[in-house]
Amino acid sequence: MTVTIVGSQLGDEGKGALVDRWGGDADVVVRYQGGDNAGHTVVEDGTEYKLSLVPSGAVRDKIGVLGNGCVVNPRTLFDELDDLREQGLDPDVRIARRAHVIMPYHRVLDGVEEETKADDESGQEVGTTGRGIGPTYEDKAGRRGVRIADLLDPDALRERLSYVVPQKRALAEEVYGLDVSTGEHASAFDVDHLVAEYGQHGARMAEEDMTVNCSDFLHERRQAGDDLLYEGAQGTMIDVDHGNFPFVTSSNPTAGGAAVGSGVGPTVVGQGEVVGIVKAYLSRVGSGPLPTELDGTDREEELADYIREKGGEFGTVTGRPRRIGWLDVPMLRHAARVSGFTGIAVNHVDVLAGLDELKVCHAYELDGERIETVPATTEEWARCEPVFREFEPWSEDADWDAAVAEGGDALPDETQAYLTYLAEELDTEVYAVGVGPDRAETVELANPFDRL
Ligand code: GDP
Ligand code: IMO
Ligand code: MG
Repeated sequence: MTVTIVGSQLGDEGKGALVDRWGGDADVVVRYQGGDNAGHTVVEDGTEYKLSLVPSGAVRDKIGVLGNGCVVNPRTLFDELDDLREQGLDPDVRIARRAHVIMPYHRVLDGVEEETKADDESGQEVGTTGRGIGPTYEDKAGRRGVRIADLLDPDALRERLSYVVPQKRALAEEVYGLDVSTGEHASAFDVDHLVAEYGQHGARMAEEDMTVNCSDFLHERRQAGDDLLYEGAQGTMIDVDHGNFPFVTSSNPTAGGAAVGSGVGPTVVGQGEVVGIVKAYLSRVGSGPLPTELDGTDREEELADYIREKGGEFGTVTGRPRRIGWLDVPMLRHAARVSGFTGIAVNHVDVLAGLDELKVCHAYELDGERIETVPATTEEWARCEPVFREFEPWSEDADWDAAVAEGGDALPDETQAYLTYLAEELDTEVYAVGVGPDRAETVELANPFDRL
């Protein structure tokens, strides 16, 4: 059976921590979208692991699969694998032959397009991670991408690159005015250089027996009785279809992506559990609206600084300070519907301890009308005024260890009231409550693998 972990908000909800937690009960952990734009943190007995492309099940010694829906940068993948091996792990990672490859020119184009948007005053810069994600998915949809299988076949690789590189060169030079004949970007647009380097990456993948026909591989594992844990990256509001376009990533982090991005049928994913990971407040890296953002007054900015420092809200991938806001329940209603949550995990409850006020956005006012979910356009979302509900904050002295040991009833009454409200609004169940970054700092109310 399958358990699918999905980010409910804007990424960085603590998905890695729960994948690690429940990964102990899975046999295979599968990433189905995104690439090295993800930054997932696992803390085991005080040791922190930063994972980007390697599925978080690596810390549990589980097989990790990068599904066909992922975009894979072999350079950063091998660097990450080497770093994790130095940290004492031995990740077993399989890569779908159908997955697309992030080439050096994709990263250059991601950077220069963002710069161009930033120079234009209309404010269209997305604030991407600069990893080449968007340009790689563009080439996939445009049927000019390079796939992992092509890295294993030097003739196919040369053929694809000979077609696409001149186009990329023209785009870089003629649209963006970049000099790519000499200097730092030259090798990114040089077919011979790319064929040589990426052929070597392919040879290393073949040598380490890393590539798979993903659908067949997962089918065989399931036939043998294995349980799959799907690790969504990013989050619902930055889903290219269901998020606040255009301030989104270029893939589908929502649960439907798990089927398409791995070659396992939607009936299988749908018979499993789908757990939405919720941060007890909001954080966002990158541009775009955020109706509940704490940035209006000095007092709000002070509160945001406090939460940012206490929650360590600085991007795992880019180190950028994350923007902070109150929990947004219309956003969660949207996420729960899009992915069909069977349960949620609410993280970072400890970070909110000791505040002197605690608000939750229950609904929005949009052009004089009250709405309870997210409108379809970013322009409308930007006009949404939050309708807040006040909650009693819980004390800084809350005894989280007791809750970890004894269960949900030992959580502070105020925290329980917050969680009960959320479960009712989303018509779902709370499976876990995060009270700290470590694997042990989770109050587990239900394990989704026990529900299957
Ligand atoms: P992901 O991208 O969703 O996997 O999340 P990130 O790893 O980017 O960001 C979450 C951060 O919060 C990491 O530093 C985690 O170690 C940490 N974290 C996860 N759960 C909790 C929690 O319940 N409380 C606190 N204080 N930190 C948490
Ligand atoms: P995890 O898996 C938070 C954001 C970027 C930018 C937008 C597009 O750690 O939750 P991209 O580089 O994907 O084209 O950037 O999406 N973004 C994330 N924000 N967490 C992430 O991943 C993100 N991955 C991308 O900041 O706004
Ligand atoms: Mg992250």
